[in-house]
Amino acid sequence: MGAFRKLLSAAFRPRPAGGPYVKDSMTILVTGGLGFIGTNFVLGHLASGGDRVVDLDLATYAGNPANLAHLPPESHLLVRGDVCDRELVEGILREHRPRAIVHLAAESHVDRSISGPAAFVQTNVVGTFTLLEAARAHWETLTGAGRDGFRLIYVSTDEVYGSLEPDDPPFTELSTCAPNSPYSASKAAGDHLARAYFRTYGFPAVTTHCSNNYGPYQFPEKLIPLMTINALAGKPLPVYGDGRQIRDWIHVEDHARALSLVLDKGVPGETYNIGGRSERANIEVLTSICGILDAEAPREGGAGHLELAVHVADRPGHDRRYAIDSTKIESELGFMPEYSFPDGLEATVCWYRANARWVESVTSGEYREWMKRHYGMDGWDSPPEGLPGGTLAARRGPGLRRTAGLAPRRWRSDMRIPWRRPWYGVPDRWPRIMKRPEERRIGALAAVGQTRAGSRPDTDRKSARHGPEVGQPRARKAASHGPEGG
Ligand code: NAD
Ligand code: TYD
Repeated sequence: MGAFRKLLSAAFRPRPAGGPYVKDSMTILVTGGLGFIGTNFVLGHLASGGDRVVDLDLATYAGNPANLAHLPPESHLLVRGDVCDRELVEGILREHRPRAIVHLAAESHVDRSISGPAAFVQTNVVGTFTLLEAARAHWETLTGAGRDGFRLIYVSTDEVYGSLEPDDPPFTELSTCAPNSPYSASKAAGDHLARAYFRTYGFPAVTTHCSNNYGPYQFPEKLIPLMTINALAGKPLPVYGDGRQIRDWIHVEDHARALSLVLDKGVPGETYNIGGRSERANIEVLTSICGILDAEAPREGGAGHLELAVHVADRPGHDRRYAIDSTKIESELGFMPEYSFPDGLEATVCWYRANARWVESVTSGEYREWMKRHYGMDGWDSPPEGLPGGTLAARRGPGLRRTAGLAPRRWRSDMRIPWRRPWYGVPDRWPRIMKRPEERRIGALAAVGQTRAGSRPDTDRKSARHGPEVGQPRARKAASHGPEGG
């Protein structure tokens, strides 16, 4: 039995107390538990013997009830509803009397915030305010240990700090708040509210700022699952701008463990940065994904997956670099990420490959609409009308870049997109990486990365969760995490 399953089965052991309606039972309220981080947090929390979870989630396009449907209600009780609904939130607090709240519910995708910011202000600002108000009223009714131990963990993002220059030191908890997208601005508003509730009312809010997460159950609008799924389907891999933007990647299970530590040991009014010590340019991440797939699922005809990459117009206001200094949570709460980026990425790519049914279940309907609106492609199934050329450049969002002078052609799924075509304006560093086949391999890629300033502590670490499974066939390793694995 895989280590993960062993841990998971621990969640179903009989508990000394509990049940849905036991007054003052050990319960936590999680908002957004059906989303990417929420799902991983709930699974990890229960697997490590954590108390019962009441999960308030609106089940938007990003929330998938099937992720946690296998959990019994005495472990995980789903309340489908809006965090902006004050009456509902108050009712949940009255009925379940949680000892703490982990607030994850949010609109979370930067590109969507650019094309439709209103939903971000509603959920991320009004929703956070509503929850803080209801939680404060609830907390004021508590006495003794219940009141002293109560916490609300506001799960924020490193994006509130804005963008770093290449040589800037990573963000610390003291970095200036300077958000650049409607998404990060709406999250920063939540930061300010949480801080104000502590300073004004003494309400025990704790805020975390985590870097980019990757791992199982991420909605495939974000970089890593989107590139993996498209590459597997032989579809274009849209790289925004020059692809040299840098993110500091952390495996979602590491983030979930950090949140558990903050829940147990975090000090009210404090903020904690959480990072993976794995800065990578987008193009390096894409090259790694393609390298893994070249080894795991070679394309017919021998072409590399990276050849599917196309440069598209850049995201407006695109932050160039994020990097997190997580010294505080490491030294004060004892946090240390367990996944190295190469191990975690390989497991993640294999997970999406092994869980095609999950992918299929979340990529219908709204997802296809989004792909059409944003990339000018219908779920990548009948894309892109008139590529290159046509009206794509005029669409909202990045869209596929049009370059004048070439006759429109229809895209076909069997059509290879060759490199160095003038119409997608390849920046000069990108084809250099492309032209050297040995650098397509993951091992060689790490060497490419080391040319950037700083060492790579992550390459030395081993993943504890993957430890016992090292040496197993990759498909089994991935399946052990998946909804289809059990
Ligand atoms: P996600 O988009 O995958 O999930 C969000 C969840 O919130 C979904 O289940 C959705 O149904 C739910 N939700 C949305 N609006 C709601 C509403 N009005 N009421 C109740 N539920 C609602 O997001 P994620 O990637 O899991 O991120 C979770 C949190 O972590 C967010 O607050 C995000 O800002 C933060 N965060 C994410 C990352 C990352 O890399 N994904 C990094 C740092 C911080
Ligand atoms: P994303 O996963 O959307 O996370 P965030 O914007 O919160 O960092 O994007 C990660 C990086 O990948 C970001 O620099 C934008 C880039 N990106 C692409 O180049 N192409 C894509 O199709 C997507 C979704 C993202």
